[in-house]
Formats: sequence, C-alpha cells, structure tokens
Amino acid sequence: MAVSSAPGKVYLFGEHAVVYGEPAVPCAIEVRARVGVEQRSDNKLRIHSEDLSLDGFTVEYAGSADERPDVDVSESLLTAAMGYVDGAIEQVRDVTGDDDVGFDVTIESDIPLGAGLGSSAAVAVAAIDAGTRELGTTLEIDELAERAYQTEYDVQGGQASRADTFCSATGGAVRVEGDDCRSLEAPDLPIVIGFDGGAGDTGELVAGVRGLREEYEFAADTVESIGDIVRNGEQALAEGNIEELGRLMNFNHGLLSALGVSSRSLDSMVWAARDAGANGAKLTGAGGGGCIVALDESDEAETALSYTPGCKDTFRAELADTGVRRVE
Ligand code: MEV
Repeated sequence: MAVSSAPGKVYLFGEHAVVYGEPAVPCAIEVRARVGVEQRSDNKLRIHSEDLSLDGFTVEYAGSADERPDVDVSESLLTAAMGYVDGAIEQVRDVTGDDDVGFDVTIESDIPLGAGLGSSAAVAVAAIDAGTRELGTTLEIDELAERAYQTEYDVQGGQASRADTFCSATGGAVRVEGDDCRSLEAPDLPIVIGFDGGAGDTGELVAGVRGLREEYEFAADTVESIGDIVRNGEQALAEGNIEELGRLMNFNHGLLSALGVSSRSLDSMVWAARDAGANGAKLTGAGGGGCIVALDESDEAETALSYTPGCKDTFRAELADTGVRRVE
C-alpha cells in the first residue's frame, strides 16, 4: 500500500474570479487528507472513509459512479466524494496505461468536505500520488498538480481553476493566474478559521457567478475588481503588511458577497472576527456555507467566534510549507 497526504488551503484572495483568468492567492494550511491506495487482484474500486464528512461510509463498486450501491450517507456528499476519488483513480490508470487495475482506497481527512478548505483538491492530490506510487511511478509535482486539476475540472463540469490543486500539491502560498502557477514568499500569517458546520456546492456556486457575470456588466466588473484586490494583496504579502492584507480581505469579502456566494452564517462569522479586532476576515473557497478566514494576532477573534451563533468550530491554522507528503 502507498499512503500520501496533502494539505487543505485558505484563499487569502481571488476565489471565483480565478475561474475567469484573474489571479488568486491561496495558501496551504496544516490540515490534511491522507489517502492510502492498495492494488487489488480484480478491477474493482473500493473506497473507505471514516471521517471525510464526519459520517463514515464504505462503498464498493466495479465501474462508474452510476453503478454505486445504496448506502446511508447524504447523496450529494457521496456523489462528490466518489466523484473526486473516481476521477483521481482514472488519472492513475491513465498514467500507467492500465485501465483494468482495481484498488482499495482509504481516506482519512481532517478537512471538512465542501467547506472552502480545499478538501477535494487535497483528496485528489493525495489519491493520485499514492495510486501512481502504488503502481511504481512517482510523479513530478507539476504533473501531479495538473492531473489533480483535471480531476476537479471534470468533476465540477468544466468549471475549475488550478488554484486549489496547485496549492495542495506544492504547499505554501501560491499565485495562480490561468495556467501560470507559482510559489510566493509569505510571512507567518496569524490565520484563524471559523467553520459553520455546513458546506457549499462548488459547481452550483461557480455557475451562479458565471450567470451573473454574463447577465450584468457590473458583475463582470466586480470579478475584475477582485483581480485588482489580488494584485494589491500580493504586494501587501510581499511586504508582510498584515494590516493591509486584512483591509483587502474585507474588501474581497464584500465583493464575493455582492456576487451572491456568502451566507448569513459566513457573514456573522466575518463580522464577529472583525468586531473582535481582527485585521480582516472573508469567506474562503466557493462559499455558500463552510469556513471564513481571519487574520488576528491576538486570541480575540478565536474567542469571539467560539461564542458566535452559527459558528460550530474555530481554530488557528499554521501555514503548510510542504504540499504532498509521501507517508508510506
Ligand atoms: C473553490 O475552492 C474555488 C473556486 O474559485 C473554484 C475554482 O477555483 O476552481 C470557487
């Protein structure tokens, strides 16, 4: 069996706009998904996870997601989780040219699914890395990131950027603009996460922004303005100017909210962190529910979030310098 882990991420700036060619700056954090892949003697794919969603599930099937058996777990969660693993295993089969190889895949994840912390990217990166190593091939990081991106692109119906997958594969802070992906120098950031216990549907949220952008010129301008925030944010990151980073994150949240991807609980958490003195706070990822990211050097934002109605969990996150890790 080969086991790999890959980190989750927060977006300092630029989610959604990155899908339309604007730059984005995500940043890997030390919460990880670990995926073990073991070759089977038949062509079946068996997926087991105790904690991908906090609901355990085990599924076993031989072919496409349509043939999956009935199991007691939310349909959308199962479809999403299986889709990413299925897609990752297709990439493994493509690398090795063996379409009939079967696997037992075990997923352990500390990253809540669909909550804006890059769970699907981390699972795809770790699964492709472990699967290819199980068959005797070690991919270069760039190819691993590209194949994980293809997985997300296919599962999300052709609507994905390279940001989440590149960040998870390489670790650290990164800048992604179209297919130009690079690592950035980043200071130690005082990152605080608030989690509302929920999740958003990335495909639907991306489609919603796409619709607004096509319907209204001012929505297209909003997407472009997010790009301007990102360019300013890169400068602030390079200077280690936490105050300016926070101010720009607040601005970025406002524009995401205008594009309809925030929610009442995300807004409540953002305001709780700001009221407690955080430098800035915004939703992270696709939105709709899930997580916010705040910058706060004191303990005040974390304490305030722990008392905020709608906030189920809050924690401080360290920057993950390493992306994919080969555990076994
Ligand atoms: C989702 O984590 C980030 C989005 O920008 C989609 C993407 O970049 O693929 C909303």
